[in-house]
Amino acid sequence: MKKEPKRYLVTSALPYANGPLHIGHIAGAYLNADIYVRYLRACGRDVAFICGSDEHGAAITLRAWREGKTPREIVDHYHGLMKQAFEDFGISFDEYYRTSSAEHHAMSQEIFLKLAEKGAFEVKNTTQYFDQEAGQFLADRYITGTCPHCASDRAYGDQCENCGRTLSPTDLLNARSTLSGSQPVLKETAHWYLPMAQHEMWIRDYIAEGKLHEKFHHDPKQWKAHVVGQCMSWVDGGLQSRAMTRDLDWGVPVPLAGAEGKVLYVWLDAPIGYITNTKVWADRNGKNWEDYWKNDDTHLVHFIGKDNIVFHCIIFPIILKTHGGFNLPVNVPANEFMNLEGEKISTSRNWAVWLHEYLQDFPGKQDEMRYVLASIMPEQKDSEFTWADFRDRVNNELADILGNFVNRVFVLTHKFYGGTVPAYTGTPSDAELALLEEARASFRLVGEKIEHFRFRDALASAMDIARAGNKLLTETEPWKLIKTNAEATGRIMHAAVNLVASAAYCLKPFLPFTAEKIREAMGIAWPQWPAQGELNLVAAGHSIGQLPILFEKITDETVAAQVARLAATRAEQAPPQRPVKPNIDFDTFQQLDIRLVKILEAEAVPKTQKLLKLKVDSGSGVRTVVSGIAAHYSPETLVGKTVLFLANLAPREIKGIVSEGMILMAENDEQGLSLLCPVKEMKPGDAVK
Ligand code: MF3
Ligand code: ZN
Repeated sequence: MKKEPKRYLVTSALPYANGPLHIGHIAGAYLNADIYVRYLRACGRDVAFICGSDEHGAAITLRAWREGKTPREIVDHYHGLMKQAFEDFGISFDEYYRTSSAEHHAMSQEIFLKLAEKGAFEVKNTTQYFDQEAGQFLADRYITGTCPHCASDRAYGDQCENCGRTLSPTDLLNARSTLSGSQPVLKETAHWYLPMAQHEMWIRDYIAEGKLHEKFHHDPKQWKAHVVGQCMSWVDGGLQSRAMTRDLDWGVPVPLAGAEGKVLYVWLDAPIGYITNTKVWADRNGKNWEDYWKNDDTHLVHFIGKDNIVFHCIIFPIILKTHGGFNLPVNVPANEFMNLEGEKISTSRNWAVWLHEYLQDFPGKQDEMRYVLASIMPEQKDSEFTWADFRDRVNNELADILGNFVNRVFVLTHKFYGGTVPAYTGTPSDAELALLEEARASFRLVGEKIEHFRFRDALASAMDIARAGNKLLTETEPWKLIKTNAEATGRIMHAAVNLVASAAYCLKPFLPFTAEKIREAMGIAWPQWPAQGELNLVAAGHSIGQLPILFEKITDETVAAQVARLAATRAEQAPPQRPVKPNIDFDTFQQLDIRLVKILEAEAVPKTQKLLKLKVDSGSGVRTVVSGIAAHYSPETLVGKTVLFLANLAPREIKGIVSEGMILMAENDEQGLSLLCPVKEMKPGDAVK
């Protein structure tokens, strides 16, 4: 039998306090966690729901530097804004604290020291980029350059956002300082590295086999495939040592002699924020934080977006396990990304629906957005929010199905019985019984789905109760039946009132504001979540009150106004500029031998996805070239084409094939690559000038 954990510790990723929250954040790591926690609380389980602001790291200091403010000013401003927006939206954290707090500095220093004592780090002298103009070492986002993998010229020192690969600053070609734009120099500095390769074996057991500790194995099948996939590809790629300290003046100071001017790497201190914030909450509420972190009867679950997977599934577990005494996460149900009206959500491009703006524009309509985001949550793959879809879901589902059902039941109960719930007597028809059975099963279904992190399905099952209720009324027509069969009408209305209460209760984790309105109007109290499907939430003889309006329809004008705002944002943004490279003289240009060649043969390069091996007629012999166009052209379509070619590029070996030149192509983000063919019929070997 499955043993139920004694306690749950549920966390949502600590958002950087460097900008407001948008709906992509909410759908990624907050609304899902909130639904989960609200459900667990309804079941009477002991839960701590912990979050807070991530206030360190280059994300903060760079924003401050760009705006001419101090990091302190930035985090104070955004911490307040985010905390309020979460609260107004009904994200029911037990604690929302901050990593710049004294409590957090103390906790992360203590953990760092313990790790250092245990020999968890290797101190290495390395050379790192240093900006002489700014007088500062450059790590992570402080350094940009060209990605060695995909040639994007906007790669950062820790990651290329174009191809997603992790990088070190010295991997970048043509590295430049983000601060001054100058070319940095290399300078010696010491850092504390976490040798992750040492942990490979147990990390594999943990992720792939579900081995948490001696006593407990989680079921690896319960982990999302994309989470396990991302972790295993990291592990398979070889775990590299990673520096856990930085030369920066904003962060948690490294508490060791000889480490002056150094702070903890933000990805070391931020997850420890979960621990600090649990302690802050526990201290304030007369609880023991260690029960939630160290007692193996507690289930730890991290809700995050997919860009945080390796930090939560590999690096933080290494920290926790090396320190000793801490639980590891039982599950990390990471979500993928949500796009907006056909484009990636982007804070820097202002392409977003900001939560605080939504709350202003749609006062009292938290549940409308919660409903839509839960319906399209990117659980298994990326999803998309559009305002037209928002309108349709609110109007056709919330208003027409749920609102309509609840309203009809209230109206009829007042009309027939003066608001007093009639008795359930007589013999129900098979159709009535089937509908009630369906509703009864919903509690179990909704609960199971929530416990398996299938929030979209769970919401659909909860809405099915309202669907069943509408069907009951439509099929039995109590407004007609009352004239011929008072007993059956009473029974059906008794059932209908209970279906309203059940629907409201099953929807409570998703739509807490609406569930509360219905509960209040009914004048009832919620019992513990009836896992076995107990449906008698409202007894005969109970008097119900007046129902407020639950949902207003979203008008086309409202949608148009929101879409227009996004369109204005799009228009304001100058199209991404490709900066022109520094001038060269004509002689330099003349050195390039660009000519036309005809493609004679084309075949895929084995074990690659992007590469084709081509034979081309160069006008002076046949050449072999390897070209990265397999994703855009099939080999057959290429043969016979005359295309542009750089003939005097020094030969390079690619996947064991010597490539003698380069096919020239145009590239952009939408279309990818395009060959360049002459408009007139031309011959191989003809010069391009
Ligand atoms: N601030 C990070 C982000 O927004 C998330 C930090 S999660 C934590 O990507 F575990 F480090 F807290
Ligand atoms: Zn790249």
